[in-house]
Amino acid sequence: MGRKRILSGMRPTGKLHIGHYVGALENWVKLQNDYDSFHLIADYHVLTTSLDTSGIYDNTIEMIIDWLSTGLDPAKSPFFRQSQIKEHTELFLIYTMLITTARLERNPTVKDQIRELNIDNVIFGHLGYPVLQAADILLYKGDAVPVGEDQVPHVEITREIARKFNQQYGIVFPEPEPLLTAFSRLQGLDGNSKMSKSLNNTVLLSDSPDIVGQKLRKAVTDPQKLRKNDPGRPEVCLVFTYQKKFNPLEVNEIEENCRSGALGCVDCKAKCSAGINRFLAPILEKRNYYENNRNEVLDVLNDGETKARAVAKETMEEVRQKMKFG
Ligand code: TRP
Repeated sequence: MGRKRILSGMRPTGKLHIGHYVGALENWVKLQNDYDSFHLIADYHVLTTSLDTSGIYDNTIEMIIDWLSTGLDPAKSPFFRQSQIKEHTELFLIYTMLITTARLERNPTVKDQIRELNIDNVIFGHLGYPVLQAADILLYKGDAVPVGEDQVPHVEITREIARKFNQQYGIVFPEPEPLLTAFSRLQGLDGNSKMSKSLNNTVLLSDSPDIVGQKLRKAVTDPQKLRKNDPGRPEVCLVFTYQKKFNPLEVNEIEENCRSGALGCVDCKAKCSAGINRFLAPILEKRNYYENNRNEVLDVLNDGETKARAVAKETMEEVRQKMKFG
């Protein structure tokens, strides 16, 4: 015993973008050295917003390749799919009895999703997905969960469920804490507050230097900087938010020259693409390796699922014993 445990999870939506890196992966890579980490692929969670599961396997493989290419180490922390470890659904069932529907209806993140996606008839599983997430976390007795702001309400529900179970049947579960990611999300290339595949405003971790250049050329900037030598306002410029992340050493100079009008948007974007491409180069190289060695990717998954399953099984045995089932 000793090291604390982290459970981190992501839905398999296919190739990841730089926003996933900045908002989550970068943090996971750092945390894997200080915690025992478990990396969950939330494939059942995809069903909450789309019944079309035809791309789920390919999306899972692409996501794992991105995880590996950005430095997540499966030797330190297993990668595994929710759907392949039946204990997730078993514990989920028990947890559904420990929380009220009124409590789930108050969850602000679920409410936002329902509004954003224009859903007028909410399915049972969508309302209940934070309960499945609680099972994901507590099956591995996660002490901490690295998440963005939007997931904090789910971690709170997880804590409530853990508390309720422990009071009713005896202590089995920790009450996990959210570990907030320091760098907030990256905006999309169109200036939307969120970089997202469905909004088609992303830079993928797998984009070639040419594609990155093309995408950046179309990115929005300060709308008041119309001509090259007009003074710009970095504080309202999307590209400047990327410069801060991908050109940290040049950022002061860029800011000054944008404000004075010495730096035009075309040149600024070229610098930005170069910074992003420098960051992506080693990722692309590793990606290329795994694309040509897919058997290694499958081995990672097999091995991770074997390790995760052993832990999950042990927790479920403890749960059944406390509850006097068999
Ligand atoms: N709900 C998370 C998302 O939509 C994914 C997720 C599922 C998760 N289970 C988890 C995240 C457990 C952290 C821990 O992104």
